[in-house]
Amino acid sequence: MTAILEVRNLSRAFGSLMAVNDVSFNVEQGELLGLIGPNGAGKSTLYNLVAGLLRPTRGEIVFDGQNVTGWKSHRIAQVGIARTFQIPKPYRQLSVVENVMLTAFQQERTVSGAMALAEATLADVGLSEYLTAPVGTLTVGLLKRLEVARALAMRPKLVLFDEIMAGLTPAEIGVMTNFVALLPARGITVIWVEHVLYAIMKTATRIMVLNRGELIANGPPAAIARDPAVVKAYLGEEMTIA
Ligand SMILES: Nc1ncnc2c1ncn2[C@@H]1O[C@H](COP(=O)(O)OP(=O)(O)OP(=O)(O)O)[C@@H](O)[C@H]1O
Ligand SMILES: [Mg+2]
Repeated sequence: MTAILEVRNLSRAFGSLMAVNDVSFNVEQGELLGLIGPNGAGKSTLYNLVAGLLRPTRGEIVFDGQNVTGWKSHRIAQVGIARTFQIPKPYRQLSVVENVMLTAFQQERTVSGAMALAEATLADVGLSEYLTAPVGTLTVGLLKRLEVARALAMRPKLVLFDEIMAGLTPAEIGVMTNFVALLPARGITVIWVEHVLYAIMKTATRIMVLNRGELIANGPPAAIARDPAVVKAYLGEEMTIA
């Protein structure tokens, strides 16, 4: 297997707080990697580092054979890393399809090309009937799907999902989980941060656990679920896996 992403001794401090502390891992091409950990563990900060929204205090990020450490976010996006935001940030004055066209323009130079890519991606996530809807009218579940479409319209090699299940109904979680599970077969490597543990535990091929900035576990879901360090990290938090 070939590593598409290599993270080496990555750290990020905010003042005296080590939000990400000496984290190293590889992601293989075609993996569906779950990234879990209690609130404040450093998951979103790790995403911001990989996606170029934050500069690391220390460490290296190698993507697709290129050292991308310190690159700005637009350059990282161009080489094939897309991410969703934990709090969706659509342009509220634009329609659904216009929002996706903005990211599709990274791949398509013409308006018609971007429109076609946006429409196809929205069809993929089940939003075809909302193309012209103002974003302000969407429910949380539909907004999450829009966020996923905005990332996928960049035709990424690697996508970083940050809590795309939060606020969804159990039925919506089921649909989204099945959708995410199919992405690796389409050539898209996935890292998936989620607090909906049962969904991630049954779907991911491997799980990494962050706690207080440190990587405390890394392995198959079944082993993670009974790892004492993981259970301890979640003490006092709800950890429902079944
Ligand atoms: N820009 C920032 N400035 C200062 N501190 C920050 C900043 N961003 C994050 N932090 C702190 O870094 C730590 C990690 O935060 P992060 O958002 O990465 O956690 P998380 O694992 O994504 O948590 P959650 O599951 O709640 O989303 C937290 O203590 C947070 O308060
Ligand atoms: Mg977060």
